[in-house]
Amino acid sequence: MAAKLFALLMMLLSLGREAVNEYADQMSLGGNLFLVNRDYAIASDYVPSDLVAPDVDMTTSNQKMRAEAAQALEDMFRAAKEEKGYKLVAVSGYRSYGQQTSIFNRKVDAVGKKAAMLLVAPPGTSEHQLGLAMDIGCKKNTSLTGSFGKTDEGKWVAENCHRFGFIIRYKEEWTDITGYSYEPWHVRYVGREHAEMIYQMDIPLEYYVAQLREAQYALMIYGGT
Ligand code: DAL
Ligand code: ZN
Repeated sequence: MAAKLFALLMMLLSLGREAVNEYADQMSLGGNLFLVNRDYAIASDYVPSDLVAPDVDMTTSNQKMRAEAAQALEDMFRAAKEEKGYKLVAVSGYRSYGQQTSIFNRKVDAVGKKAAMLLVAPPGTSEHQLGLAMDIGCKKNTSLTGSFGKTDEGKWVAENCHRFGFIIRYKEEWTDITGYSYEPWHVRYVGREHAEMIYQMDIPLEYYVAQLREAQYALMIYGGT
């Protein structure tokens, strides 16, 4: 892990100040790399300005994402169909602060707070409020359970979503870092360049963003090209 992080840092430093600053610019609400988790919450009234419903199969109509992410989702679903004949289905996209509150409270009532915290983000801390996440399944499995990860479609998503700018945000081995159980169905859009890097490095978004920040800081101190 340390070697991978060092390689990323070196790569970023070699790109120079402008490129790193460009990456750093993305770490704001307008950017694709914005980190949201229990430590970094978003305002309750944040609503992305460019939400659209991707033209894909859905279990419940009108699931939305930000425009760029929606286009990427369409591309990914089309590729799954064309390359493998897999029929992916969108289940849950953008959720307002209020919707997330209801989902979280229902889960707490059902399983208790400790267990709920591993499964649903408390209001203000969900990537679904960013409009950059979609929960997906396939025609024969839209349960949003770990079983999706065992299907051919789920395996294809895990190995290919980076080609379209998505990452599997909550991998099984990252629970201690992300705070969430394995979610093979939750894809988060970060853009192709970052998704490719995160896939190759196999690190959680928390680590990736931290490294970008360190690289930016290093450039500030030591200067770039
Ligand atoms: N299930 C994910 C963590 C969410 O609620 O955003
Ligand atoms: Zn999700």
